[in-house]
Amino acid sequence: MPSVVVVGLQWGDEGKGKVTDYLASEAGLVVRYQGGNNAGHTVVVGDQEFKLHLVPSGILYPGKLCVLGNGVVINPGVLLKELAGLKERGVDVSGIRISDRAHVIMPYHPCLDQLDEASREVGKIGTTGRGIGPAYVDKYARYDAIRICDLIDPDIFKERITEIVRIKNMVIEKIYGKKGFDVAAIIDEYSRYAEEIRPMVTDTSVLVDRAIRNGEKVLFEGAQGTLLDIDHGTYPFVSSSSPSAGGACTGAGVGPTRIDKVVGIIKAYSTRVGEGPFPTELPEEQVSLLRDGRGREYGVTTGRPRRCGWFDGVIAEYSVRVNGVSDLAVMKLDVLDQIETLKICTGYRYRNSILKEFPASLKVLAECRPVYEEYSGWLKDTTGCREWSDLPQQAQDYLKRISELAGAPISMVSVGWKRDETITIQPIW
Ligand code: GDP
Ligand code: IMO
Ligand code: MG
Repeated sequence: MPSVVVVGLQWGDEGKGKVTDYLASEAGLVVRYQGGNNAGHTVVVGDQEFKLHLVPSGILYPGKLCVLGNGVVINPGVLLKELAGLKERGVDVSGIRISDRAHVIMPYHPCLDQLDEASREVGKIGTTGRGIGPAYVDKYARYDAIRICDLIDPDIFKERITEIVRIKNMVIEKIYGKKGFDVAAIIDEYSRYAEEIRPMVTDTSVLVDRAIRNGEKVLFEGAQGTLLDIDHGTYPFVSSSSPSAGGACTGAGVGPTRIDKVVGIIKAYSTRVGEGPFPTELPEEQVSLLRDGRGREYGVTTGRPRRCGWFDGVIAEYSVRVNGVSDLAVMKLDVLDQIETLKICTGYRYRNSILKEFPASLKVLAECRPVYEEYSGWLKDTTGCREWSDLPQQAQDYLKRISELAGAPISMVSVGWKRDETITIQPIW
């Protein structure tokens, strides 16, 4: 029975929430495997829009098991608020399960994230300020991390947090000259969270294994995107986790032999939030072409305007390769409906050569100039298209070129934010 990974192929915000929700109707289990509340996944159901940060995008189907895997970093206050907000809107959140091995974002993590960014004169990453980087640093450094299983054990939690806050306060007070944290207040606040989340905590790897053995469909929902991956992204302008498909194995506790398909989510153009290289970026005076109108390219988590640019075939090929993408879902085609001339980047001119492989060095990348092919736009509304044959010929040609450059077949095309504004070419399940 299929298990499918949904992975972003660009710099995040590709539309993973829409596709996860779309595929989740048939899934037994939906699993977030990395990242935290830096993510903002939008799902539109009828006239209601949901912006999910930690909760998996399968939650809108009543009773669906939705797992936060061990690879996620969880801010319990944020999670509980998100769940309360969903409940208020009538959403059944009884299916939420939290890995006992997931790491906890503590109040000093966002604080250190923001202090670190603010103190830098050069090389700011433009993080979401949610404490994601510092939480993963503590996870890998090992000394100062709190896992969910520690949080819900009052003795262990008190013992560990007392020492950790002493160390964190040394950094906050002596290096940044700011006021440190009161450990008693943290214990009080987080002990309340611990009691609220305790019923949801379990070994979620067992749930995933059981579902697969029972022949249920399992959906792994990545956050961020391949170019924000700590290993494969435009380092150091990346997030601190592994959004790429391999991260689903470590972040959910499932072996690679159990994954059947990898659905690469890719916009029909490109966007990025925060700092870092973006070869096909449009200059500010042209950006509204993609950002405004149906693009609505403003960050779900921070509200920042997204940087926008043309489709980058070098990145598409790179991301298909590092994720082993079996199917592409091309999103937001409708945003291009009224543009007369479209451009697709097919390579990078670097000094006297044309690069087809995405370079590791940011210095090389800074010298790369995109080589473009131009396509005439279709100048027709595609939001009503439900079959491949409904799409204007120019749109079909544009999509065929995307698939050819990426080196993977297109199984879905999205022509609007609503559930039904979707063309299925090859069913994923
Ligand atoms: P995610 O982080 O990958 O889940 O994506 P975001 O939710 O951050 O950003 C995607 C945005 O595009 C959201 O506002 C979606 O509602 C919207 N969206 C998704 N698919 C389409 C589409 O095909 N057309 C248009 N116009 N908007 C879409
Ligand atoms: P979804 O899941 C777009 C970006 C931030 C910043 C960099 C590092 O909605 O696609 P972090 O706070 O993670 O340390 O910030 O990563 N970033 C995202 N950009 N979509 C996201 O998530 C992102 N999550 C982080 O803007 O450049
Ligand atoms: Mg997003």
